[in-house]
Amino acid sequence: MMEEVRKRLKEAKKVVVLTGAGISQESGIPTFRGRDGLWKNYKPEELATPEAFRRNPQLVWEWYNWRREIIRKAEPNPAHLALVELEKRYPFFYLITQNVDGLHQRAGNKNVLELHGNIWRNFCFECGKEYRGEITPQVPRCECGGYIRPGVVWFGEPLPADVLRKAWEVSAQAEVFLVIGTSGVVQPAASLPLVAKEHGAWVVEINPQETALTPWVDASLRGTACQLLPEIVKGG
Ligand code: OAD
Repeated sequence: MMEEVRKRLKEAKKVVVLTGAGISQESGIPTFRGRDGLWKNYKPEELATPEAFRRNPQLVWEWYNWRREIIRKAEPNPAHLALVELEKRYPFFYLITQNVDGLHQRAGNKNVLELHGNIWRNFCFECGKEYRGEITPQVPRCECGGYIRPGVVWFGEPLPADVLRKAWEVSAQAEVFLVIGTSGVVQPAASLPLVAKEHGAWVVEINPQETALTPWVDASLRGTACQLLPEIVKGG
């Protein structure tokens, strides 16, 4: 199967990648749906919502502080670096990510589409004014008096429309589409591999476990991103 993936990649000119929390797991950043994703017994789904922030902004803020501390100390791993190598090979390459940790950009990827925002950006919950995503003990307030929130997309909120449009458009053009380290249960991101497939792409999943997308993909490589991606990319 590894050989087939390498052969398909060699023949392709248009490659699109979708990543999820699993690619940063080996950088020490907990995934959302694993046991290690839990913080003080809260599920991410209970914290990453506008309702949760409205109810208890300080609690949600502290969860993001916890995540920012981990992300700040984390480094891009060999899987991130393999994707930088891959980008250099193709005239058409897009890396669509659900991650908010910024590690793909820190690794050196250029064409990154952040579907769920970035944890190092903040904006005012009331007026939308933008701020840097800093770690402060108390939820900061905007000039307008509103609370400042993390610049990430929460459950129940729309994705940034221009980013989603572009992601949809490039997915439809992909010849090979890699799905890496995502459980494939959060929409609309989880539809992108299917859009690619509908338009003729060969879709391969890289994940140590079965996912909601497994029945739909053309191939599944079972292993971690750091075990498999450097191997896929090795030797051109
Ligand atoms: P999940 O936590 O749902 O899924 C992580 C996936 O990574 C699982 O399928 C794991 O099997 C896999 N995995 C774990 N370790 C891995 C490794 N070392 N290498 C490769 N794969 C590994 O994370 P996402 O699918 O990214 O949304 O979650 C999607 C969205 O739900 C997130 O962007 C976030 C969350 O709520 C928002 O914040 C809006």
